[in-house]
Amino acid sequence: MKGVILAGGNATRLRPLTHVTNKHLLPVYHKPVIYYAIEKMVEAGIDRIMIVTAPQYVSQFVNLLGSGQDFVSKRTGKQIQIAYGVQNEPRGIAQALWVAKDYVGTEDVILHLGDNIIEDDISEAIQNFSGGATVFLKKVPDPHRYGVAVTNKKGDILEIIEKPENPKSDLAVVGAYIYDNGVFEKLVGQSPSARGEYEITYVNNRYLSEGRLRGIELTKPWFDVGTFESLHEASVYMRGKHRKQNEKA
Ligand code: G1P
Repeated sequence: MKGVILAGGNATRLRPLTHVTNKHLLPVYHKPVIYYAIEKMVEAGIDRIMIVTAPQYVSQFVNLLGSGQDFVSKRTGKQIQIAYGVQNEPRGIAQALWVAKDYVGTEDVILHLGDNIIEDDISEAIQNFSGGATVFLKKVPDPHRYGVAVTNKKGDILEIIEKPENPKSDLAVVGAYIYDNGVFEKLVGQSPSARGEYEITYVNNRYLSEGRLRGIELTKPWFDVGTFESLHEASVYMRGKHRKQNEKA
């Protein structure tokens, strides 16, 4: 399985922090935001990762991450390999995934939004993946900010609505998705949404309509660091975690 991390976007909600710095390069306590997504993939045994970003940021990511020399593959014990993809215009998550089509080739793919920090270990979900799509869900106090999943009592997903004004549930769809290779066909034929973007929720709903979408609810903290508040909260959380780890050591 290949990994794709999205790190484009203008992050207008984080201005002036993001006037010259890409959101994914900002610090969350002691590491740049994007490190958390890379580490999550490496922990799950993924060691081929494409970072998709906008033209003006590519060199910054290359300066920071190079070919991946700071990350060690679980499989080989050697460094992972990071590649780069360019999204010319910020036209949404589904369009950014299309950039990685040739890189992914015929493999399955895990797509991770670079501004999402997931504390649960997702290795098992990756190992057990057997086609279709897997999404991760998390109960949140402010579901209108996210894709929202409505589930039945068994936990099966019935529908996903992107940023509903009146959410029917408090289950946000987290920014990490495991797809089989059929995802690339499902990217085709979509019209841009009201915000002018090709939405990943459209793709997830296509898997749902085929009965091939699985939802896994996360139990540990999850952050989408797109606002000052969540960026700060994530830093405070990581500081606490780092201190505990140092006490133990
Ligand atoms: C995106 C997705 C949304 C998802 C969220 C998670 O929203 O469209 O479905 O819940 O990421 O962070 P965006 O960050 O583009 O507003």
